Amino acid sequence: MSAISIHPTDAALGAIIEGVDLSRVPNAGTIDTIESALEKHGVLIFPDQRISPAEQVAFSRALGPLEATANIDARLNGQPEIFVIGNTGVRPVSFAPQHGSEDLEWHTDHIHKPVPARASLLYGKEIPDTGGDTLFACLYSAYDALSPADKSKYETLEAVHSIEGLRAYLHKQAGEKGYEPGRQEAMPECVKWPLVRRHPTTGRRGLYFGAKVTVGITGWPREEGLRFISELTEHTTQPAFVYRHVWRKNDAVLWDNRRVLHAATPFDMSRQRRLMHRTTLRETTPIA
Ligand code: OGA
Ligand code: MN
Repeated sequence: MSAISIHPTDAALGAIIEGVDLSRVPNAGTIDTIESALEKHGVLIFPDQRISPAEQVAFSRALGPLEATANIDARLNGQPEIFVIGNTGVRPVSFAPQHGSEDLEWHTDHIHKPVPARASLLYGKEIPDTGGDTLFACLYSAYDALSPADKSKYETLEAVHSIEGLRAYLHKQAGEKGYEPGRQEAMPECVKWPLVRRHPTTGRRGLYFGAKVTVGITGWPREEGLRFISELTEHTTQPAFVYRHVWRKNDAVLWDNRRVLHAATPFDMSRQRRLMHRTTLRETTPIA
């Protein structure tokens, strides 16, 4: 058995983990090591993994209960806990803007669902030559950098999140081709969470929102809310708070949705293939 080693990146987030084979169900010691590294670094990169869909599901399930995507047509045949993200199938699924656009959808997974995602594990099966990176921004750093006055003001705000915000974005990015969502599981029109969220294990405060999936602030006029969210996105995703993951085939990346925002960057969908498999860990502690 090889020892596990953890190499932090130079960025505000992220560490490369060597010595964990994701094709095996982790024992209690390995789970502890992974959970504490995730708590410390927010994003964990496991390079050079060879895992089948069933192995990815088994590994992920060892960390906690899973949640299938609401996009029924994007579930992998025979392994519904795998969310197929990419442009290699009949119906492309991508969270990236159009090639050439910088209008990123910074978000945290399932914030628009009654039970959000605690963590997500994304496995890179086919990677474009250029583009198609994933960016991660630290929500603790963004909160810590606020003025004391903004901190206390934000503490009182509640943000509204909706699948419609995400859909409107996907429609816009699909351009003339249009966006074909496929079969979707029903979900509420919107959900509301405090804008400032305490991380359940570290106790640290972070901002909790997404660029497009968040559609307003409770009690505020719509336009004012949208402007505020756009400024908050700008603040949160400043380079000092961001880690950019440039994918290599067979990387697996695990992130904590309670501490990071993420965004896909564009790639040339007409020429390049990108295929990722995601498993999603369901939130198990109430949001405070
Ligand atoms: C996701 C996601 C980003 C990407 O899997 O939740 O947002 O780079 N993916 O594909
Ligand atoms: Mn996502």
